[in-house]
Order: sequence, then C-alpha cells, then structure tokens
Amino acid sequence: MFYEPRKQDPKADLGLRHNPWKALVQPRPIGWISSISAEGKVNLAPYSYYNAVCEDPPMIMFSSSSRSKDTSRNILETREFVVNVVTDKLLHPMVETSRDVPHGVDEFELAGLSKKASRIVKPPGVAESPIHLECRLYKSIDIPSTDPESDYIVVIGEVVGIDIADEIISGGIVDFTSVGRLGYKDYSITANKQSVVLKPRDI
Ligand SMILES: Cc1cc2nc3c(=O)[nH]c(=O)nc-3n(C[C@H](O)[C@H](O)[C@H](O)COP(=O)(O)O)c2cc1C
Repeated sequence: MFYEPRKQDPKADLGLRHNPWKALVQPRPIGWISSISAEGKVNLAPYSYYNAVCEDPPMIMFSSSSRSKDTSRNILETREFVVNVVTDKLLHPMVETSRDVPHGVDEFELAGLSKKASRIVKPPGVAESPIHLECRLYKSIDIPSTDPESDYIVVIGEVVGIDIADEIISGGIVDFTSVGRLGYKDYSITANKQSVVLKPRDI
C-alpha cells in the first residue's frame, strides 16, 4: 500500500478501518501536562505528540491539534507548565483527564488525583507521578492544517526544574515504568527494557 496523505483518505479511498498515521510513529511518550489559566484555574491533559528536544538546557515539545485546547491556551497566557510522567498505575487516570470538558474544569478532581506544589512554576504537578518537569514556554509555532477543524500549535518549553521521587532512584540510577502510546487505543509499558502491550478498557 502506498498513499499520499494530501490526496487520499485512508478510510474512504483505501478501505482501512482508521487513519493509520498515529500507529506508524510509535510508541510515543506521553506528556501529561498540568497548566494554569490567567484566572488561576488548574488543568491537566495528556499529549502524545510529545518528546524531549535537546539537553543543555533541557527542552521538551508537544503539539496540540487546536490552539483553543485548555493546555495550549493556558500556556500561551501564563507561559508555564509541568510535564508529569505517566507510570503503569496512572494509565487509567491519565486517560480520564483526556475527556473533553469545559474550560475551567479541574481534571485533577475529575480523575481523583492530588496536586503537588511545584518549586519554580505556578502549575502544580500530579502528586501520584514520580517525575515532574517544571517548564517555561520558550517558543510556540503554528502549523497549518488541511483540516478546517484544526489549528495546530507546537509548544517548546525549557525544563527549569526537575523533581524525581527518591523511591525511583537506586544506585544512582533512575528507574521507573513508563507508558507509551501505540496506535489506536493501545499502550505500551516499558520496564527494565521489556515492553508489553496493554489493552485498556474501552472508554
Ligand atoms: C494518550 C493520549 C494522547 C493524546 N495526545 C494528544 C496530542 O498529542 N495532541 C492533541 O491535540 N491531543 C491529544 N490528546 C487528546 C487531548 O488529551 C484531549 O483533546 C484533551 O481533552 C485536551 O485537554 P485540554 O483542553 O484540557 O488541554 C491525547 C489523548 C490521549 C488519551
């Protein structure tokens, strides 16, 4: 099979059940991003178009399919955010926080999660997550879409504070179980260099 994304629709033209794009670049790490609006409303949502960009200083990026999603909206307003690492135990609460709820709804409360005050930035982290990357907005880039519903924005943030739970540091090495996004509704778990595929409940 070969297709040109600008010219062919994988479902309508090629008979695939879903657009396969997100299944072709995987597993993707998940940036579980907490942010705060100018009025002080806290927000939490997962983004799997996410990765580390460079090291010195450390920077990360994520992209949102719309500037009007709460996360990008808040970050453009207040220029700060926290990336929380998603471990296996946090898979379901993480998915809960992806629900499309009105601006101002606190997804921490929705998913039964606790807040941990950050040291440098205003948004709190997810207390149940063992790693918090406190970030300041470095740059945002608009990306044009062929979909009139989307106005992509890429957010690049400098990691100005790194909080690692002492329990996951052993012999000077950081070790934890992380969740990655596969295609469709599947997730991978990476622990001690072994990966397995999880089929989480349908939500
Ligand atoms: C695992 C996972 C990864 C996601 N990754 C992205 C992403 O990279 N970009 C995006 O725009 N939406 C992504 N979403 C959807 C958003 O989380 C969802 O639209 C959410 O409601 C946005 O919340 P917000 O408006 O509070 O920022 C993802 C959802 C899940 C479950």
